[in-house]
Amino acid sequence: MIPEQFQNPGFVVVALLAGFLGFVPATVSSEEVAHLGDASAPLAHDFVGARKCKSCHGKELMGNQNATWQKGPHRRSFKTLASPESLRIGRERDLSESPSESPECLACHVTAFGVPAERIWKPLQAEEGVQCESCHGPGRDYRKKKIMANLKNARKKGLWDPDSDHGICQRCHNDSSPTFDPSRYTLIDGTSVGFDYQQAAARIAHPIPEHVKGHYIELREKQKEEEERQK
Ligand code: HEC
Ligand code: HEC
Ligand code: HEC
Ligand code: HEC
Repeated sequence: MIPEQFQNPGFVVVALLAGFLGFVPATVSSEEVAHLGDASAPLAHDFVGARKCKSCHGKELMGNQNATWQKGPHRRSFKTLASPESLRIGRERDLSESPSESPECLACHVTAFGVPAERIWKPLQAEEGVQCESCHGPGRDYRKKKIMANLKNARKKGLWDPDSDHGICQRCHNDSSPTFDPSRYTLIDGTSVGFDYQQAAARIAHPIPEHVKGHYIELREKQKEEEERQK
């Protein structure tokens, strides 16, 4: 059952997602949530979750982007909402739910929060925090090998380019974040800023190895042949 205050479409979305996460929020401003995190992204394609990228991007040859992400800040972002600091922030803001249950926090701490449920595929686990698709775009249509191998086609099927659109990061890295520090990053000229794409991207770098870039499929074929021979 959807409580009355959830009757406008935005609220329904949040309520549905809340159901998906296993709880019902009490005081939610759907307006606010809609302008933060993935709810504020254009949605031409469906989300599938990080597990659907791992089959290829968990391979050593590829550069194992999955492993780098697993160790990085975004993977732990849901868990962070249970930290003492989060609980303190929650008390300060008088949240009626714990931070891990509050849309005010989840909006930026998990992938696809506030996104209509029918745009999300089952494998997406909110507990895994901010995943590949928050930065690379909902991946249901570009994740197929043949499409991925051709950057132009992948872009057509929804693969974003954070290098040329830093706004992708700033949907979350902005002053609506309670821990936003306007002087977190220092630019070369000494100016302080709250977010600097170049430095931030370097902190989470997970490149495809230089010699593999553009050649993964053929190199993987060779590797498989080699593995066959050694059997
Ligand atoms: C859906 C929201 C979201 C998006 C989009 C996002 N981030 Fe984050 N990011 C977070 C959250 C939440 C944390 C805090 C994680 C934690 O420690 O629990 C974080 C932490 C970080 C950190 C560590 C803190 C710091 O500033 O040193 C870096 C670096 C970072 N993000 C880089 C990026 C870059 C680069 C992009 C864009 C390509 C990006 N993020 C996009 C939510 C997001
Ligand atoms: C607008 C998006 C946004 C919202 C809303 C948001 N966060 Fe965050 N959170 C971030 C980002 C991005 C970071 C990385 C540091 C930064 O730039 O603030 C972060 C970092 C944090 C950290 C520090 C992690 C660490 O150890 O470095 C805590 C704690 C935290 N958030 C708790 C919360 C709580 C609790 C709420 C809800 C009241 C919340 N956040 C709402 C985006 C958000
Ligand atoms: C917080 C944002 C963020 C998350 C989460 C994230 N990436 Fe990235 N990724 C980037 C940025 C920024 C770059 C560098 C710019 C670029 O090449 O598009 C990048 C680059 C890449 C590249 C290309 C590297 C190259 O050499 O050109 C691959 C492949 C990739 N990411 C896959 C993944 C996969 C798979 C996941 C999840 C396991 C993931 N990314 C999670 C932001 C992110
Ligand atoms: C079936 C295998 C496969 C799956 C699944 C897959 N990818 Fe890829 N991906 C590739 C291949 C192949 C390339 C091109 C590698 C090369 O440079 O040769 C690639 C390249 C990329 C790039 C780099 C694009 C660039 O700038 O050149 C990104 C980013 C990326 N994938 C993200 C993802 C994300 C996010 C997912 C999950 C939603 C995903 N991929 C799922 C095979 C896959």
